[in-house]
Amino acid sequence: MLRLDTRFLKDFPEALSRHAPLLEEARERLLAKRKEAGSMLGWMDLPEDTETLREVRRYQEANPWVEDFVLIGIGGSALGPKALEAAFNESGVRFHYLDHVEPEPIAALLRALDPGKTLVNAVSKSGSTAETLAGLALFLKWLKAHLGEAWRRHLVVTTDPEEGPLRAFAEREGLKAFAIPKEVGGRFSVFSPVGLLPLAFAGADLDALLMGARKANELALAPLEENLPLKTALLQHLHRHLPITVFMVYSERLKYLPAWFVQLHDESLGKRDGEGNRVGTTAVPALGPQDQHAQVQLFREGPLDKLIVLVVPERPTEDLTLPQVEGLTEAAYLFGKGLFQLLKAEAEATYQALAEAGQKVYTLYLSEISPYTVGWLLQHLMWQTAFLGELWGVNAFDQPGVELGKRLTLTFLERPGYEF
Ligand code: PA5
Repeated sequence: MLRLDTRFLKDFPEALSRHAPLLEEARERLLAKRKEAGSMLGWMDLPEDTETLREVRRYQEANPWVEDFVLIGIGGSALGPKALEAAFNESGVRFHYLDHVEPEPIAALLRALDPGKTLVNAVSKSGSTAETLAGLALFLKWLKAHLGEAWRRHLVVTTDPEEGPLRAFAEREGLKAFAIPKEVGGRFSVFSPVGLLPLAFAGADLDALLMGARKANELALAPLEENLPLKTALLQHLHRHLPITVFMVYSERLKYLPAWFVQLHDESLGKRDGEGNRVGTTAVPALGPQDQHAQVQLFREGPLDKLIVLVVPERPTEDLTLPQVEGLTEAAYLFGKGLFQLLKAEAEATYQALAEAGQKVYTLYLSEISPYTVGWLLQHLMWQTAFLGELWGVNAFDQPGVELGKRLTLTFLERPGYEF
């Protein structure tokens, strides 16, 4: 269950009814594009795709020898699986993410892994991202050197169904290759094989995850009163004059979720609108309670330039009772309490302290941290982003700024005699 709490934004109920026509129009515009080729709205259909789920499961079951899973990918090709695997790894398979190109940790990883027990998954929608191809080149050489002809069983590709260098490479080499549907872009691809394949090896409950995502779909199509994504999109829209939107998650298991959200929000919405105006707000990641001892001082007494979103679980899936410690009477208020009570009290304290300081803040409560609620949350945030794209007049599904960076990197590396 996902629940929105806006108790400190007193004007919100009135604003919601006042903006109902605007929200309805935004939703209609978005849904009208659903069947248009190139609209990149295929992420809406991923939670229903049972065929891909079966294919992913078959592959995982046919490869029970995997002890280490190396995901080579960056941005939308890594952040979703990384966030979900950290929360729901039940299998004990160790995951390693090559979403960087720093030689030292990669060299250390190549020394530490047993190639016979390692599966390498190269993930790239375009199939041409420099970081991913660089990682692939290194691991390919390593697999071939250690395994000879058997290397092919240890490399699986996730990429465009037809196009791109990675698809062509997989076909030439006869590799197993999963497809990211044409109409699904990187940061919206977590429920495609980009996320499902690693999560199958992590032993995560994929049925529950996708059921949660379907719940978000249902609510996105529901009337406004029940429509959670339209409501949070409106909250973001009403506060668009505040340049920063903080995404603060009170869960260690979800510690990589803010990074996933930051990419989704910033890369989708930081754009020029139809009239050439620069639009967007800057998402800032935060983690509770750690950031109570780091960023919250600024959030409370620094500039009132933020919309702060807290993501808080309502109950634990497992708790620990804090035992008595003799001679530590100052901590008596803790003893006998569940550890989760401390977490909840800290989240509530932050919520109230920020509101009292004049910051704009709302909370999204998850009934607990589970594949169902987190699947729901991720798909909810994708809908929120898509609705915001309509409200702000930007295409939430392209990334011209990122593409430029990719092109320039290539130009530098191709320049004769190029060296720093
Ligand atoms: O969301 C996006 O489209 C990007 O952030 C991509 O995920 C990222 O640039 C990696 O691209 P690719 O999956 O093509 O390697």
